[in-house]
Amino acid sequence: MEIKNVDSKEKLKEYYDFFTKVFYEDAVEYNEHYYPMFNTYSKISEQFEKDNSLLIYLENEGEIVGTVAIKDVSDEEATIYALTVEKKYRGKGYSSMLLKEIEKRLKSKGVKRISLGARIRACYVYLKNGYTPTLLVQVSDFATTDLIKKANKYNYEVVDEYQNEVCGAVFYKVSKVDEEVIKYFESNVPTAHVSYIFTKEI
Ligand SMILES: CC(C)(COP(=O)(O)OP(=O)(O)OC[C@H]1O[C@@H](n2cnc3c(N)ncnc32)[C@H](O)[C@@H]1OP(=O)(O)O)[C@@H](O)C(=O)NCCC(=O)NCCS
Repeated sequence: MEIKNVDSKEKLKEYYDFFTKVFYEDAVEYNEHYYPMFNTYSKISEQFEKDNSLLIYLENEGEIVGTVAIKDVSDEEATIYALTVEKKYRGKGYSSMLLKEIEKRLKSKGVKRISLGARIRACYVYLKNGYTPTLLVQVSDFATTDLIKKANKYNYEVVDEYQNEVCGAVFYKVSKVDEEVIKYFESNVPTAHVSYIFTKEI
């Protein structure tokens, strides 16, 4: 196993095809809708032109078997996405290996904080790697953040919130991740979309 940078346009497409296929197969396995990721292609292409050392993959016998990418790098903060490992290589610490490498590279570039949105099935990876979870409840259209706060039976502490004419969101401090909490807010707050986001100071 070797960690490599995406170093050509051909490799970039191979990398994109790899992680979109992993997400597609995961959606099929869990009977979920697959959301096409073609907007991501322009993001990784931009990153490739700016700094390809932040598009990395794990290679085994010439084949890509895992990926992680970075977007929206500012002086202080960066966002991780497209963390994937091919099914037959899972549970062996390869996603942690990719995360550690990308954290090391970001730190060497002066980035201080990493953030990301995680799917529920991947939360354990970020918890294992020292990321702090926050619960994000988003509403839109006729629904407002007041409805979210009224439904907060857990008495979670609000760490941030916003509301404009058509969308709102509340960020709650949490100490753990629980799929039941997602289901609860989504069933009790109209239009709610609920997820965990993670941050880590590096
Ligand atoms: C999420 C994903 C990248 C994890 O890859 P992986 O290589 O299996 O993860 P790792 O083996 O590095 O696991 C990380 C840690 O979690 C632990 N772990 C693995 N499976 C676990 C599970 N089901 N429950 C709890 N902990 C688990 C591992 O022991 C490891 O801990 P360690 O570093 O102390 O040994 C992989 O499952 C995947 O590609 N999923 C589909 C795409 C996806 O959902 N990506 C994430 C988008 S947010």
